[in-house]
Amino acid sequence: MHRLRLTFAVASTAVLLGGQLTFVGSVPAGAAPPAAKPSPPQAYPADSLRALAARVGLRVGTAVNMDQLGTNEKYTQITAQQFSSVTAENVMKWSEVEPTRGNYTWEKADQLVAFAKKNKQLVRGHTLLWHNQLPTWLSSDGYTTTLSNDEVKAVLKKHIFDQARHFKGDIWQWDVVNEAFDDNGQPRQTIWYKAWGGTGYIADAFRWAHQADPKALLFYNDYNLEFTGVKSDAVYALVRSLKAQRVPIHGLGFQGHLSTQYGYPDLTNNLERFAALGLKVALTEVDVRTLTKADAVNEPVDALAPYAQESYWSRTLKACLAIRACISFTPWGFGDAYSWVPGVFADPQEGAALIYDEQLNPKGQYDVLQQDLALAAGAPRR
Ligand code: XIL
Repeated sequence: MHRLRLTFAVASTAVLLGGQLTFVGSVPAGAAPPAAKPSPPQAYPADSLRALAARVGLRVGTAVNMDQLGTNEKYTQITAQQFSSVTAENVMKWSEVEPTRGNYTWEKADQLVAFAKKNKQLVRGHTLLWHNQLPTWLSSDGYTTTLSNDEVKAVLKKHIFDQARHFKGDIWQWDVVNEAFDDNGQPRQTIWYKAWGGTGYIADAFRWAHQADPKALLFYNDYNLEFTGVKSDAVYALVRSLKAQRVPIHGLGFQGHLSTQYGYPDLTNNLERFAALGLKVALTEVDVRTLTKADAVNEPVDALAPYAQESYWSRTLKACLAIRACISFTPWGFGDAYSWVPGVFADPQEGAALIYDEQLNPKGQYDVLQQDLALAAGAPRR
């Protein structure tokens, strides 16, 4: 069973000071307190996901809900203690940063960047170009707009330069382009596609982002790329042609929104083939949903479902661990109470997709990630 916590867990007391963790005591469980030199205070426990991942050079991230960060103490503490990278779940999206034309509202995104700095976390910027969550002055559905093609082009260029410059130096990975292909592997006919008369906007977006923040790693990010098929193949062909044209693209983001009602994807093959193009790869939005009860959305219908979920989480993490090019593993949040899944996947109802339960207690899904990371770091010699 996965319920046992790792035995080398460190018992410690953390105090939350303005979002920053400070440790006031740290004694290995079951061991005598250190005699002479006390080890230097640590900002997070030795058995946290971030500490274990650091031993193999991997960043473990989370999407962050800015309605909880700083107000919900337990949520804030877990965010700081367990993760070494953060992604804004919403507050860096266009509708959030420029709700009325020309008036930027960076406050919440700036707060997240400041929190990350305090807690020695890197930031995944999400996202510069998407067809969803656009401000209504630009488009209400991502496919239609009252602006002319020339205006659309100018507005996108300004947006990418303004946003990438605003966060210049603070972003480790930018999701420059998000979800440009549909499930049939066709380029989505968005306002961007229509303004350019094709997918040429994608190369322009990467070039502009690179000019605005030359040190950021620039990613294309999408879902279902984990599965081999028309969509993954179409994105592969696009990225290969971008590389051939020397467009500054550095990484491929596999969102990793998985469900136990579908088979486990051939993720390893897909990570490998994109990495072989000379790209970094990352798992950027992982969650593993399962069928849940209509009247209790985070309660699985099948009592055995959590074991399937544990298997999916473990295999997804291990697929990343096995490939040097895989630089970060990011679940899309950590507490079931704040997950986007129950609201969006409601017919049939799915949920229970994250690694902490509704009360923010770690589930078996947390334990398997912790154990896999500990194993990757190397079992002690006997
Ligand atoms: C989701 C957020 O989690 C929700 O809170 C919001 O209402 C809609 O967007 N792919 C992405 C993410 O790239 O930005 C989406 O996030 C989930 C799917």
